[in-house]
Amino acid sequence: MTKQDFAPDPLLAELVRPLIYETTSYERFEQTTTRRFTKTSTPSFPRPRGPLSDTVISALRRSPGSLGETPPIGDIDPLSDDDFGLALYLCYELHYRGAGDVEWEWDPELLRFRAELESAFVNQLREEIGHAIPRFSYEVSTALDELIRGSSGPSLSTYLSESGTLEQLREFCIHRSAYQLKEADPHTFGIPRLTGEAKAAMVEIQYDEYGSGDLTHMHSELFADTMAALDLDPSYGSYVDVLPGVTLATVNLVSMFGLHRRWRAALVGHLAVFEMTSVEPMGRYSRALARFDIGPEGRRFYDVHVDVDALHAVIARDRMVVGLLSAEPELGPDVLFGAAAVLMLEQRFVDYLLDAWTVGHSSLVT
Ligand SMILES: [Fe+2]
Ligand SMILES: [Fe+2]
Repeated sequence: MTKQDFAPDPLLAELVRPLIYETTSYERFEQTTTRRFTKTSTPSFPRPRGPLSDTVISALRRSPGSLGETPPIGDIDPLSDDDFGLALYLCYELHYRGAGDVEWEWDPELLRFRAELESAFVNQLREEIGHAIPRFSYEVSTALDELIRGSSGPSLSTYLSESGTLEQLREFCIHRSAYQLKEADPHTFGIPRLTGEAKAAMVEIQYDEYGSGDLTHMHSELFADTMAALDLDPSYGSYVDVLPGVTLATVNLVSMFGLHRRWRAALVGHLAVFEMTSVEPMGRYSRALARFDIGPEGRRFYDVHVDVDALHAVIARDRMVVGLLSAEPELGPDVLFGAAAVLMLEQRFVDYLLDAWTVGHSSLVT
């Protein structure tokens, strides 16, 4: 993919410039567009980490319909195993921008294998968080508050804002790139699966996540700016090879919730937690970047979230969650399941990084 392939047509650009870009900045648009499209290429195949990911990667290198025999999942932890996490991640990436023939997206045999992986993933989630879901007699939105308040563990944002090194901050952004370079896309799969107030609320949140239709304000683009400011490669999928299973599990969770209508309420619970727990950590990550003289452009992703997520938290809780449950009250347990699952996997992720750094290791796969 070359810069030329995606450069705006000069003649067309001259015609539309005064009509469309008067109030933004055509030059900024042009630079951003050229830069992003230059760096956005079709993800290549990562290295296999074991039999499960090898099966998927080998298949994706061939034509659809050729999956063949698949290995047993074995006695692993689906929430942290590298091989398992990568296999499921690659199955889900076919619905975003995955490598391989696009027809693999709906290949029946690969979907069957994915379902096997998902079943192991969900069983382990249930095992881990069954006890964590509050069984209160009051409203689900209040139970959600309790769940968030009750989640405990060390804070990565506090560590990075107070004593983390620049290299650790860069590692953190590499981990987060797996989600944040496609920020908002998994939740967007939920929009057609909701109705009424819940749908309207999710659309309002998502509209902001996509920069209100302005490429230069899209949160995924702002995160790419942060990566560039840290001298990291902001190309989509460029760090998959170094992401451990605990990181891949956080992305697999939201992809699974987004891609299954059956999990629409869990997706709502997941998004609600994201929005309701964002403001303070985002402020701390911005301060962590400032400690290393990263300027406003590189910190904008975090600063924007401090502003906008204060509002998103209210929309998510009081309109999206409440709206969903007034339409479909039987989905309350699923909302809490999604919320508990993201809180648990995020804490596992944080613990993994801090444990690695405490003993002086990198948290990335080497
Ligand atoms: Fe965002
Ligand atoms: Fe948000």
